[in-house]
This record gives sequence, structure tokens and C-alpha cells, in this order.
Amino acid sequence: MQAYRAAILRFAEDQSAVYEQDGLLVIGADAAGRQVVRAVGAYADLVQQHAGVETVHLPGRIIAPGFIDLHIHFPQVDVIGSPAPGLLPWLENYTFPQEAKFADDAHAQALASFFLDELLRHGVTTPLAFATSHPASVNALMGQAQQRGLRLIAGKVLQDRHSPDGVRDNTEQSLIDTESLIARWHGLGRLGYAITPRFAPSCSQAQLRGAGELAARYPDVWIQSHVAENLDEVKWARELFPSSRSYLSVYDDFGLMRERAIYAHCIHFDDDDRRLMRATGAAAAVSPTSNLFLGSGFFDYEGAQRIGFKYGLASDVGGGTSFSPFHTMLAAYYVGREGQTKPGISLSPQNLWWQHTAGAAQALGLKGVIGNLQPGCEADFVVLNPAATPLLARKTAQAASLDELLFSLIVLGDDRVIDRVFVGGTSGALAAGEIVEVSNDNDPS
Ligand code: GUN
Ligand code: ZN
Repeated sequence: MQAYRAAILRFAEDQSAVYEQDGLLVIGADAAGRQVVRAVGAYADLVQQHAGVETVHLPGRIIAPGFIDLHIHFPQVDVIGSPAPGLLPWLENYTFPQEAKFADDAHAQALASFFLDELLRHGVTTPLAFATSHPASVNALMGQAQQRGLRLIAGKVLQDRHSPDGVRDNTEQSLIDTESLIARWHGLGRLGYAITPRFAPSCSQAQLRGAGELAARYPDVWIQSHVAENLDEVKWARELFPSSRSYLSVYDDFGLMRERAIYAHCIHFDDDDRRLMRATGAAAAVSPTSNLFLGSGFFDYEGAQRIGFKYGLASDVGGGTSFSPFHTMLAAYYVGREGQTKPGISLSPQNLWWQHTAGAAQALGLKGVIGNLQPGCEADFVVLNPAATPLLARKTAQAASLDELLFSLIVLGDDRVIDRVFVGGTSGALAAGEIVEVSNDNDPS
């Protein structure tokens, strides 16, 4: 076992944050050999029973759950910041040409490595990621995640129509490839597979039907797609699938809505759509930096909370502008505050943080596995430096409550706050911070 002494942030059942100013996090192997949280709480309460456990003391630091990014595109690293009047021209002029480059395996390998390192540098320990339509792009990303011991969920994009040469796939082959990739990667170590229809307009009925059949055959595989992001896209989807009640209903009609189905954006919904999300157990990946950048609209937090369906936060890089969970949480705050058509609801800093950790885990069906630091959770965590910049140091030193502390980090934080990242209990090549003190003498006297 190994213990860490620092301030510790985690989440209770009711989604509120639990904060120990002087906490102890004890990590060790479970019966299956996974590194998990064995004990967590106030240092004073736990120190006696863990006397003799090597303890790394991190004064002035905060240990928090690794962030989960519910929706991100690994091949869009080089798409970030590409200007376009809206989603559809952005896809055509920037995204598809970049994704076509992933036919080259060397390019896919290089970008997979860069992408995962960039996520880790920003404190993200689990992404739900789109690859490209090339099966080898999934192999590249999964292989790189496996090397890093990362929990990653990803899938080959399905897009057999309305897509240019270089990214368009073949209906039958795309389904064969998806099933082969499930067999190769799903459940291997910490890896999971997601059936990934790009969005309804890029998939034929036959491809969506095949995807739905795979989803039924593999109930613990994830599903990911886009829905109701942009008004032109919504109009197009309605024209292509006139017999479905709404754009979201297209996915339901093809058997693609269930637990473990994550739909990015979910902006232009009515209450029937929200009820369909709730009834099926599907979850929304709220992607505020992308929605603001592409001018897509504002996720309706009031509607989501009123009807009650699952959601969590996502970067949606490269529509999104940052890998940083702090930037995403801040953008979500702006949206909750001012972007609502109904009277603004104010998202609390604890709730914003929950949406990017424990709430995102719940959306994935991985509650109690990742996104929290309660006993039994996998040991994916970050060590935060609340004094990483001069302004942060001033601001966080004056915080009179947990909300004030978390808000300072959300508003002023970025990758500089991420001191160390632990994946499955170890901080590998990315360990940047120094161990301040190592002691196996836990006797406080
Ligand atoms: N809709 C279909 N493909 C995409 C994509 O790559 N990014 C975003 N934001 N929306 C999409
Ligand atoms: Zn996306």
C-alpha cells in the first residue's frame, strides 16, 4: 500500500463535494490486482490504522479525482481554432481533410501519442474518444492508451454517406470492422469500445441499423454520436429521416439509445427529447467551449435538470478550444449563467467539478469505478497546486470556503495547476512535481 497526505477533494452520494483540509488517501491492490482507493478521510482519523504505510506528504497540494472528458476527437488536435461560420462548413473545410490524414498509420500513431500526453498533462485520466473511420486509427489510440495504463473508451467512426473520399467508409465493411475492433479491444485491461456513428446525416439507414444490431449484441459496449448541435444540422437530419419524430428519435428508432450511450451537444431539444434521454438512460456530453466557438447554441441546464437526464462535461476538441477541464468548467458556468433562454440558473463550482468527474462517470455507467476517490474507486487522481501562478496564489490563499477555492481554480486554472497525474496508482513519465517528503513513520506524536 501507498498513502498520500494532502488536502483531498471527493464527492458524496448527493453530488456535494467532501473536502479534507488535511487528508490521507491510501492506495493498494484489490482482489483483482487493480490499484484502488483503500481508505480516504481525515489524516488524524486514518493515521493510526495505517501506521507503517509509506506516506508521501504533499503540503499545500490538493488531491482530486482525475477528470473525465465525455466527448473528444483524437484526430482533431490540429483542427482546434479553425474558423467557420458553423458546424457543417467547419466539418467540410477543416475536419474531414484532417481526418483523411489518418489513413497514414505513422500519422495516427504520432497523433495518438501526442493526444494522450496532452490529456494527461491537463489532468484528464479517462476520455471517451472518437477515432477516425480508419480502423487502424483505433488500434493506434488503444495501443498508446494500453502502454500508459489509461482507462480509455474509443471507437471507429461510422460514416458511409455525405462524407468525402478519404473518410467515407463502406457500409458492410464498417460493421465488420467495428465488430472486429470490439473483439480486439473491448474489456482488454482498462480499455473499452464505443460504437461510433458520426451523426445521423453521415450514416445510411443500413449503417445505423447495423450499428443498432451490434449495440444489442454487445450490451456493455458504449455508443457515442452527435445530436442536435446546430440548427442547419437539425434541419438536414429531419429531411433525411422524415419518419422519425425528432433528430434524437432517429437514434432511438435504430436501437442506439440505452445506458452507456453518450450523445454530444443535445442543444436543440424539446421536452419529448429530454424524456427520451431519461427513459432510455442515455447521457449528454455537454461541450460548452465547442458550442460557443462554433456558435452552435447553449445546453439547456434548466431543461435537463427539470426532466432529469444524465449529463457531464466534455471538451469536444477540436470543435472545443481547450484540453483543460478548467476552461470547460468555466465555459459551462457562463452557459448556465447567461446562456439560458429561461431565467439563468447558476451552476455551483462543486456541481461544475462533479460534472467533469463523478457525474461524467455516472453518465458512462462507471459510478464507483472512476471519477471519485471513495474506497474501491480506481486510483486515477491529480495533484493540484492551488498556487501555480501568482494570481492563483493570492486568490486561493484568501478563499474562505470550499466554493471560493474551487471557483478560483475554475476561473484562473489551466494545465499549470496540474502538478502530478496518477494513472492506476502510479505517476509515470509525466510526474512533474517533486515529492516533498517521504516518511513511513506515521506516528503523529
Ligand atoms: N458532428 C458530426 N461530426 C462532428 C465533429 O467532428 N464535431 C462536432 N462538434 N460535431 C460533429
Ligand atoms: Zn464531437
